This record gives sequence, structure tokens and C-alpha cells, in this order.
Amino acid sequence: MKKLNLNLGEKSYPIYIGENLLSQADYLTKHISGNQVMIVSNTTVAPLYIDKVKSLLTDFEVCEVILPDGEQYKNLDTVNQIFTSLLENRFDRSSTLIALGGGVVGDMTGFAAASYQRGVNFIQIPTTLLSQVDSSVGGKTGVNHPLGKNMIGAFYQPKAVIIDVDTLDTLPNREFSAGMAEVIKYGLLGNENFLSFIEKNVDSLMNKEKSSVIDAIYQSCKDKANIVAEDELEAGKRALLNLGHTFGHAIENSMGYGNYLHGEAISIGMYMAAVMSEKEGFIDQSQVSRVKSILENCELPTRLTGKINFSDFSKSMSVDKKVLKGKIRLVLLNPIGAAFVSDDYHKEFLDQTIKEFC
Ligand code: NAD
Ligand code: GLY
Repeated sequence: MKKLNLNLGEKSYPIYIGENLLSQADYLTKHISGNQVMIVSNTTVAPLYIDKVKSLLTDFEVCEVILPDGEQYKNLDTVNQIFTSLLENRFDRSSTLIALGGGVVGDMTGFAAASYQRGVNFIQIPTTLLSQVDSSVGGKTGVNHPLGKNMIGAFYQPKAVIIDVDTLDTLPNREFSAGMAEVIKYGLLGNENFLSFIEKNVDSLMNKEKSSVIDAIYQSCKDKANIVAEDELEAGKRALLNLGHTFGHAIENSMGYGNYLHGEAISIGMYMAAVMSEKEGFIDQSQVSRVKSILENCELPTRLTGKINFSDFSKSMSVDKKVLKGKIRLVLLNPIGAAFVSDDYHKEFLDQTIKEFC
């Protein structure tokens, strides 16, 4: 088992990464306060892992709420099901919520924990690669609104993150690849050595060989934890984690949730950011090709298959949270391994980039 700490003063918490962690009660139970525990999962993950988690909680009063599966259910109506279950079962302020699932379950459970009786404890047990390397760490929680993705939410940190890589055994390959997009993101934005590690170990990673996967998750969480520790509320550096996201969210918004997986949309978005960085003169064609190759070697898309209207795409970009005072902020590469946030770019290059991809 490898352990990291996200250092946020009184809100600090451990991230445990390893095999077989869901067979060992201690990682979980020592972070539970109170006697009431609500496990939140979904119709896909619960049949696979909820009994295992419940078997660790024999000393607690345990309830469960099983949500429908899918990004299209990441909304306030679904979060309300969690509140209803908490109220029906008379959960009090000392209770603990456990998120058992991917980023959708994790984001909604965290948001419910932030709001139920003005805040109760919660623990993340992420079961997709994407949630293990990104969404379970750092305390961004929330839901989508028909007018924009992740527009309703709160920063609310978990008490612990328990990453059992054995859960990846049941994860479909397409979902695993989507998680690799976020792994690659850390290399591109600030850790060129890590990008080289991914390139060198791409076969063992894509074969889900445990030791490579654990190393990749560990480094991803470490890089994220360092950034969040410096800038929890995204006043500055944390915005680097949005590499590819302004383009990616526009893809998700304008194609409808569910056509592209989140990680797939981010993959295309990161490639768009690389193309835009080349137009600005920050990187050359060989570096753009390097970005394309590693994404494609991880079986990720770098092009849109359906058509998007240019003005719909631009409009979707302008409702993103990364828009500040009307200006779309982009994360660009200057060069690979050293991303920066910019609102000082050539608008015509942005338009050209969007047109090339639409
Ligand atoms: P997801 O939660 O929809 O999970 C993907 C699919 O895999 C689902 O069908 C799920 O039921 C299934 N699944 C989960 N674990 C499984 C397992 N072990 N075996 C078999 N099937 C399993 O998607 P995701 O990619 O995990 O997360 C995407 C979401 O995360 C998006 O809503 C995105 O906005 C959010 N996100 C949040 C942050 C953050 O910082 N909070 C960061 C990145 C992404
Ligand atoms: N996924 C971006 C962040 O956590 O800030």
C-alpha cells in the first residue's frame, strides 16, 4: 500500500493506493465519525462492490442509496434522492457518507455531504481510473445544470480517499482509456518526466498491470495533491488542472452528455490545446505529434467524429466556469510539461482551432 497526504491544515487527509484495500476494514473505519454510515453507489457498481464495503462496517448502522448510472443523472434531482434517504433514515450531523463509484457518484455524494445539515463527513472510494487519479482528490463536488456542466457545486474535502486498484479489473477498457486522459494530463501540464514514464510503460498500463497502474495513480495523485495544497479554491495554480477542459466541456455540452465520455472529451480538448499552443508559437509540430501519439496509444480520440456547429461550440465555451469577466481563459503548453493559463492569446487562432475540429 502506498500512502499520500493532501496537506490542507485541519482539512488534511490521506490517500491510500494499493491492491486488496477493500478487504481491510481499518483504512475505512478509522475515518468514520459517528455511528451512521450511508453508502452512495449506483446500479452498476453496487452489485460489484457494495457487499465488500458493507462487510467492513459491521460495527456501524449502515444504509445505502443506489443511484441510476450515467452522467445524465448528475443533477439536483438525483442528489435529492440522497437527501431523502438520509432524512428517511434519520441520519444526524455526525453521520458519514461513503461514495462508492466513479466521478459521477463521487461528485454527487460530496455535494450531498457538503449540504446535508450544512456538512457531514464523507469518504471517497473511487472505482474508475479517472476518479482514482482526479475527481476523488481535491474536494470539487457538484452537479450539472442543463445550461452548463458542473455549474452547481461546492469545494468540500473528504476525510480519506481509498483507492483499491483491484476495482479496475471490472472496469470496461473504454472507461480505463478515459482515465488515462487525466493521467496524461499531469504529464502535459507540469511533469515531463511523468509523460516519458507513461510513454515508456504504455503497454503495461493499457494491459492494466498492477505495479505500473499503481505507480501512475500514485504520481497523478501526488501531482494533484501538491497543486491543491497550494491553491485549494482555484485562485491561481489549480486552474492548470483544467488543461483541455474548456474545449472538452464545450464538446460535452454541445454534443449532449453521454456521446463522449468525460475523459474522451478531455483528450480531444488537450489535443486542441496543443494545436492552439503551436499556433501561438509555444510548441512545434513535433510536440503536437507527441501529444497526439500518446493519446492515441491510449486508445483515446483526438478528433470529433460527429459534426458540431462552430457558433454552438464557441457559445458552449463561453459558459464554462473558466470564463472570467467575459474572457475565455485557456490552459496552453509552453512547452510540454509547463502549462500556463492565458487570456492573452490571438482570438483568430482560437477560432481557427475550433473550426479545424468542428
Ligand atoms: P462515471 O462515474 O460515469 O463512471 C464511468 C462508468 O463506469 C459508469 O457507468 C460507472 O457505473 C462504471 N463503473 C465505475 N466503476 C466501475 C468498476 N469498478 N467496474 C465497472 N464499472 C464501473 O465516470 P468517471 O469517468 O469516473 O467520472 C466522470 C465524472 O467525474 C464527470 O462527471 C466529471 O465531471 C467528473 N470529474 C470531476 C472532477 C473533480 O475534480 N471533482 C475531476 C474530473 C472529473
Ligand atoms: N479536475 C480539476 C480540479 O480538480 O481542479
